[in-house]
Amino acid sequence: MRTAFVLIWVLCIGAVQQHAPAPLSGPSEAPGSYRDLTERELALAKAFGKLPSALPSPTNSLADSPVAARLGERLFFDPRLSANGNLSCASCHDPDHGWADGRQLALGIHQLDVHSPSVLGSGWNFWQFWDGRADSLWTQAIEPIESPLELGGSRMELARLVVFAPELRGDMRTLFGELPDLSDEARFPRRARPWPVSPEEPFRGPTKEELLDPAVAAWASMAKEDQALVNRLAVVATKSIAAFERTLFPQPGSFDRFAKGLTDGDEEGIAALGADELYGWRLFAGKANCISCHFGPSFSDGRFHNLGLQTNDDAALAIEGRPSGVRRLRVDPWNGRGAFSDDTSWEANGKILYAATGEHLVGAFKTPSLRGVVHTAPYGHDGRFASLAEVVNFYSDLPGESTVGHREETLQPLDLSPQERKALVAFLGSLSGPAVTRADAEEPIDGHLKR
Ligand code: HEC
Ligand code: HEC
Repeated sequence: MRTAFVLIWVLCIGAVQQHAPAPLSGPSEAPGSYRDLTERELALAKAFGKLPSALPSPTNSLADSPVAARLGERLFFDPRLSANGNLSCASCHDPDHGWADGRQLALGIHQLDVHSPSVLGSGWNFWQFWDGRADSLWTQAIEPIESPLELGGSRMELARLVVFAPELRGDMRTLFGELPDLSDEARFPRRARPWPVSPEEPFRGPTKEELLDPAVAAWASMAKEDQALVNRLAVVATKSIAAFERTLFPQPGSFDRFAKGLTDGDEEGIAALGADELYGWRLFAGKANCISCHFGPSFSDGRFHNLGLQTNDDAALAIEGRPSGVRRLRVDPWNGRGAFSDDTSWEANGKILYAATGEHLVGAFKTPSLRGVVHTAPYGHDGRFASLAEVVNFYSDLPGESTVGHREETLQPLDLSPQERKALVAFLGSLSGPAVTRADAEEPIDGHLKR
């Protein structure tokens, strides 16, 4: 059953990536009430208007473990993972900013060249990161810990933390088994991380320059078995972080109440969408064709598209997007086919083998979910849009020529009237419920949280 599902997914991703959806027909004037919506508009609303569950994560045997989620939550908020002791995952994925950071570009130990997405609903993502270079949440989590731009920490510090910290080691023992003794600092230096894996030469050793970093030199000096042990500890820690993230979802919005009302024939639920939002839904699903990419109950097709946002002439600032994501994904020793995966089978990892790439994806980034979007301004992979109105204006006018790859042909200027723009913004608002606090994250939303 799962095999068939994964196969169909993989085939769809490979095949559909190249094709533009069929042109749309249907009314484009404002509906007077929900009774004016077409069969198609009603059926799509019922199909999309419900929070999905997290995707299965067969490569992580701890994905649905409550003990792992509890450990993962503590690690997510723990500043001891950062080089300066002040930063944690939650600095950039902050409950007070919709679990993003409210900044245009992320700021860790140093400034990044991309914007922090929210981690709410990251369990829905078929790929992680804007370029999808990680195939799972647990694979994703090691990068911000070790990146000198983000937390600037190391897997050794992560392993030592979960082994030594009195409030963490109990859960760690439950998940890992008897904890090893890491107290010999000659074998287990306090701070050690491997050099980056190069897609061109995945098996090469560290370069002279890389060895100038004391943490890299420390890792290079370790015995292979000790490196393997530290990797196994760090993997259990990131699988726990993933288990926590899989419990994080945005709250349902008025669009979901509307959809449930339609399904149950309940007028009060149906009344949750006002005139502007109904009109916005009609445009979103019809004339503006937003659903060709923001498709399904997560409002993302999980694929990669070039919107032509990069219009600068400075080649040094260009971000390649999906093709570089695929190159890095394939050589990532932490991917679902690697030594730390709990299911290296073809069925669980077909998406890695068949990940679509090529010229047409240069400059393409992952379609983000639109759920909870009112809480996560600014928008876009480079955080260029300050508001949802700016995003809608962009799709309406499509300014500028793409300088990295080319803008997907599906996109044509929509030339929306002020009323249509307002309706689309109102509709986007209906995909968000109240903000999710850390305390909420410990309570079930719609039965989604397991603790
Ligand atoms: C310095 C800010 C910063 C810190 C600290 C940080 N992140 Fe992120 N996070 C980002 C940015 C920026 C991206 C997008 C990066 C990219 O796509 O290249 C991201 C992407 C992600 C994603 C993928 C979401 C998606 O929709 O693709 C997840 C999940 C995530 N981070 C979790 C974490 C975890 C877990 C930690 C702590 C171990 C963490 N982050 C620490 C800034 C940060
Ligand atoms: C061709 C596919 C495609 C179409 C059509 C499309 N989007 Fe997007 N959307 C994307 C991608 C990809 C991104 C991220 C792009 C980036 O940052 O480079 C995005 C980003 C967004 C964002 C920012 C979300 C965030 O968290 O940063 C919003 C809001 C949005 N789209 C709304 C819409 C609306 C409204 C429409 C219809 C008018 C629409 N999209 C049509 C693919 C699409």
